[in-house]
Amino acid sequence: MLTLIANAKINLYLEIIGNRPDGFHELVMVMQSVSLADHITLKPLKTPTIQLNCNHPQVPVDQTNLACRAVALLQKRCPNRTNCKGGVEITIDKKIPVGAGLAGGSANAAATLFGLDVLWNLGLTRTELQDIGAELGSDVPFCLAGGCAIATGRGEEVDPIAQSPKLSVVLAKYASLSVSTVWAYQTYRQQFEHTYRPVVQPTSDAVNLDERRSRLHSGPMVKALGHHRATDIAAHLFNDLEKVVLPAHPQVAHLKQVMTAASHLGQAGSGLGTLMSGSGPTVFTLAETPAQAEQIVHNIRQQISDPDLQLHTAQFTTQGIELKN
Ligand code: C5P
Repeated sequence: MLTLIANAKINLYLEIIGNRPDGFHELVMVMQSVSLADHITLKPLKTPTIQLNCNHPQVPVDQTNLACRAVALLQKRCPNRTNCKGGVEITIDKKIPVGAGLAGGSANAAATLFGLDVLWNLGLTRTELQDIGAELGSDVPFCLAGGCAIATGRGEEVDPIAQSPKLSVVLAKYASLSVSTVWAYQTYRQQFEHTYRPVVQPTSDAVNLDERRSRLHSGPMVKALGHHRATDIAAHLFNDLEKVVLPAHPQVAHLKQVMTAASHLGQAGSGLGTLMSGSGPTVFTLAETPAQAEQIVHNIRQQISDPDLQLHTAQFTTQGIELKN
């Protein structure tokens, strides 16, 4: 039996470049793992079945769950190595909010791939696992890599940023509100397609992507991360999807306002910056220390007493998936 810690992610930067030939969007993102995590236990079964248990009522426990699909895809992609291994029972202890823009489902799939590689002694490389993960979802390769990274393409091309600082973060989400990622991107396309860069020819695509990547690599967000300049990181937080999610959900727009104000109340320099993560509706505020993050939680609670609002504090982590002792 094996238990893994599957960390959530936040997007410090999310820019939508344009349409891709595969129907997805070309993205330029900076992703960061945070210590709000699900615990995934994998138990080998003698029979070749995939079973799943989860303590959260909104998580599907049938074969549509991304963790179950991860097992099936691993078996399909590596038939010779997996056909004598039997099945697996997956138990997810859910702490990452569902439908939140925190890659909870992707982190579960990443942990399942990582864990089965260990449990079944498959000997897959990180690149091979990420390649399988990319077929499951755009965020799965980052969840396997973890830490801080630039993610381009659909989000599945991951370039690690070595030196990000260990900041704290407050994560806020209304429990009863979820945003569909498909809806967020479709709505963005409807409203902003006229601003998209023209679809590039396949031959010049690689050059263009390299240029975009290098622009971000040498850009202010990555410089701020490399130099551990927390205020500069906060100054360059950006998410294009706020443009569609915040107007559609005034409650989330209000939450962002409250969090921005709450981070400037009381203690000098207590909050750094506030942004929606991914396709939302989670909003996060960065802080220099865990104590400052707790102070911000207290300040938010003074403004919004609604018990539906879930508040968590977490830290930046250097890993996406960890083995639990
Ligand atoms: O890859 P993932 O399953 O997380 O994507 C969910 C949906 O989000 C896609 O079906 C697509 O509608 C949208 N998406 C997109 N462009 C991306 C990533 C996701 O349009 N780069």
